[in-house]
Amino acid sequence: MPWPRRAALALAGLLLPAMLSAQPGRVGTGKIAEVYKQYCASCHGDQMQGASAPSMLDDIWLNGGDDDSLARSIRNGFPERGMPAWGALIPEKEIRAMVIYMREMRARHDSGQLKFAEPKDSVVAPSLLHAYQVNPWLDGVNEPWSMAFLPDGGALVTEKRGRLLRVGADRKVAGRVEGLPEIDNDGQAGLFDVLLHPRYAENGWVYLAFSDLKRNKDNQKVSITRVIRGRLKGLQFVDQETIFAAKIEHYRKEGGVHFGGRLAFDREGYLFFTIGDRGAMADAQNITRPNGKVHRVHDDGRIPADNPFVAEPGAVPSIWSFGHRNPQGLAFHPETGQLFDSEHGPRGGDELNLVRRGDNYGWPVISYGMNYDGSTLTPLTAKEGMEQPVVYWVPSIAVCGINFYSGSEFPRWRNNLFIASLAAQELRRLEIVDGKVAYQEIIFKNLGRIRHVITGPDGALYVLLQSRIVRVSAAPDKVASHSGPVPSTKG
Ligand code: HEC
Repeated sequence: MPWPRRAALALAGLLLPAMLSAQPGRVGTGKIAEVYKQYCASCHGDQMQGASAPSMLDDIWLNGGDDDSLARSIRNGFPERGMPAWGALIPEKEIRAMVIYMREMRARHDSGQLKFAEPKDSVVAPSLLHAYQVNPWLDGVNEPWSMAFLPDGGALVTEKRGRLLRVGADRKVAGRVEGLPEIDNDGQAGLFDVLLHPRYAENGWVYLAFSDLKRNKDNQKVSITRVIRGRLKGLQFVDQETIFAAKIEHYRKEGGVHFGGRLAFDREGYLFFTIGDRGAMADAQNITRPNGKVHRVHDDGRIPADNPFVAEPGAVPSIWSFGHRNPQGLAFHPETGQLFDSEHGPRGGDELNLVRRGDNYGWPVISYGMNYDGSTLTPLTAKEGMEQPVVYWVPSIAVCGINFYSGSEFPRWRNNLFIASLAAQELRRLEIVDGKVAYQEIIFKNLGRIRHVITGPDGALYVLLQSRIVRVSAAPDKVASHSGPVPSTKG
């Protein structure tokens, strides 16, 4: 249908929903869609869902929501508030079309056509910048927590329950690696991250984070996150060394919550790791306790002389930053070298933080969340001396692992941050510009809980689901789709 006729129909208003359902593929296309893409999308989001400028799908208008007001907003802008005036550049009739287009997009949004992709194995699915397809990579795993590719084409996979699996290049489990210390796997405890030394080819070091099971002086079973390294000898974990162990008085009753357990190397070869607050919220503000912290050590566990609290009496010298709740994602930006962590918040307080040396991230003094029972946790969301998150999610998505995409399979995703979410079951893509989230897209949803995502050496994304690992690769023709459903949310 040619555009003017379509616009006339849309003007008739009543016909709009019928037209939309008859031709769902049309909305979001046509000349005006190009105009929108060219001039507006960068601020209001590709699908009008909002980015640095407000969403135009929610029917909340600050400057009037009738057609004339919308046209005036576009024509004259609000230059002092960052909205340019378009009257000189866009002809009046196109401004009118833009208003209609905005109504269309809103109607489509309302009618639920903006569905979340729920990809089927091997079927091409669209997303904003790349079409992709999901294929099984490893089935029959039990709550995989992390994975690391080996130079031989195989991989190591940790399962939360405490098993370390060696997977061959043939994508078959060669077996369970034996010789690990005793691991507490009660409650949220378990075997967490696995990471290879940046110079693994030379030295063979494999790092593991897990909840270490011990007995305290009263013979009670206690645990807290511990980091070790060792080498693989076939299916044996040998040459074990402790990289970080807490003092026995800082272990807490076995099981329980908030272990953290993520590992990351920076470019200089320092190892960073996270320990959650272990349910002892106040400890996150106490630098004489290891819990609720991001830590930094040399690759062999020695304390770097320039760590922020080495000179503080009684401080745990490996602490790099504090005031964290349960950081289960940790990743360095491949270009800027900035460190980001993701944290499970309380109800409505999941966060992404830009982690800097010695800084306090505020837990539990400030938070955007409330208690799970709906009661107030803290009235404060900000406080002098405490850092604000880069972004937070209300409601919570139960954010877990994060990974900056660094492959070549999806060129337009390079350096974007991918986020795994457990409760919301979403794989999200975040564009981070100058330390701020400029755009968020939900790549897919509803494949089950997602615990982690990593870039494979082949450039595909590997996504760890509840009982399998899937490989997300570019669609065979590598054609990006702009016309498909593009679920997205505001930053
Ligand atoms: C450089 C960023 C930027 C670009 C590009 C931009 N806008 Fe905006 N726009 C804004 C901001 C910021 C606001 C909010 C202004 C305010 O506070 O009222 C806004 C507000 C609006 C409003 C009023 C919303 C309301 O709540 O009343 C409309 C309508 C609008 N923009 C349409 C457009 C259209 C159509 C285009 C493309 C032709 C466009 N904008 C391009 C930044 C932008």
